[in-house]
Amino acid sequence: MTERAIAPVERSACAKVILCGEHAVVYGRPAIALPLSWLRTRVRCAPAQAGFRILAPDVNRVYTPQADAERPLIRLAAITLDFVQSECPARLPLHAFNAELTIHSDIPPGAHLGSSAAVAVAVARALAASLGRELSPDEASALAFEAEKLFHGAPSGIDNTVVAYEQPVWFVRHSRQDAQDTEIGPMTIPALPHLVIADTGIATPTRIPVGDVRRGWEAAPERYERLFDRIGQIVVESRAALAAGEWVRLGELMNANQDVLRELGVSCAEVDALCDAARIAGALGAKLSGGGRGGNIIALARDAQHAAELRQTLLHVGAKRVM
Ligand code: MEV
Repeated sequence: MTERAIAPVERSACAKVILCGEHAVVYGRPAIALPLSWLRTRVRCAPAQAGFRILAPDVNRVYTPQADAERPLIRLAAITLDFVQSECPARLPLHAFNAELTIHSDIPPGAHLGSSAAVAVAVARALAASLGRELSPDEASALAFEAEKLFHGAPSGIDNTVVAYEQPVWFVRHSRQDAQDTEIGPMTIPALPHLVIADTGIATPTRIPVGDVRRGWEAAPERYERLFDRIGQIVVESRAALAAGEWVRLGELMNANQDVLRELGVSCAEVDALCDAARIAGALGAKLSGGGRGGNIIALARDAQHAAELRQTLLHVGAKRVM
């Protein structure tokens, strides 16, 4: 591809919550994730005068291929541009691509709501769309996964998958080596559970609890494999409870999942306090969601009215924001 006019475009991607199965999903067990379509990252791609850059005014950052070649978002832009040009005999390198991407995100970083995956999916979509190419969910997910690996080390891929599909997903990564060996089942759920999402206000990069679990697993593989198996069984039963709309059972399973996550060492006092307060206020179940050691908890309410009451309770006991 030589010099080519690009169209100004805007594309977006949603946040997510992990309903059950986090951490064990990195070790081949299933997990279920839900999109949060109302919470989004937006990326605008516009023509520029000289070269390529990514602006992230929310965090006061500018990235260029010259200064930030190894940064996840510049790497992502480079592989997305290569992907879009795969049929072209002469490929334009990223530094010669005259475009400016601007990122605005409503998804709080470090809150385990999929902020990095949403940024990656939206960047890939906007860049491809500016060249007239709309990415399929599979393509957006695969490109975003490359950035996720640079952000988080060895992610399972569940975050980029649920964000790119923007549908509830059943996810199993069978092989740590082969990202293709993954079972992705977009799920049709008859009625969505009334989930209340409450933020501890503690921002923890996912790679920290994920790294600690890895060290624990290396030191005591049999114990960790047993814990992962228990989570895997909980996820299988949660899928059945979701399909049948058995909310009381789903709540019990969420509580059981939280017990195992505590044994894995990825909970913390603030997460436990919000889960306890939600249960005392009648939540059918409560657990951390995502990496843990802070971030958000999810609590299952009986109905919309009860969700509003839980929201008040959780704000009262110190949640920084409740959705
Ligand atoms: C992060 O949303 C979920 C974790 O299981 C990490 C991963 O799957 O990559 C903690």
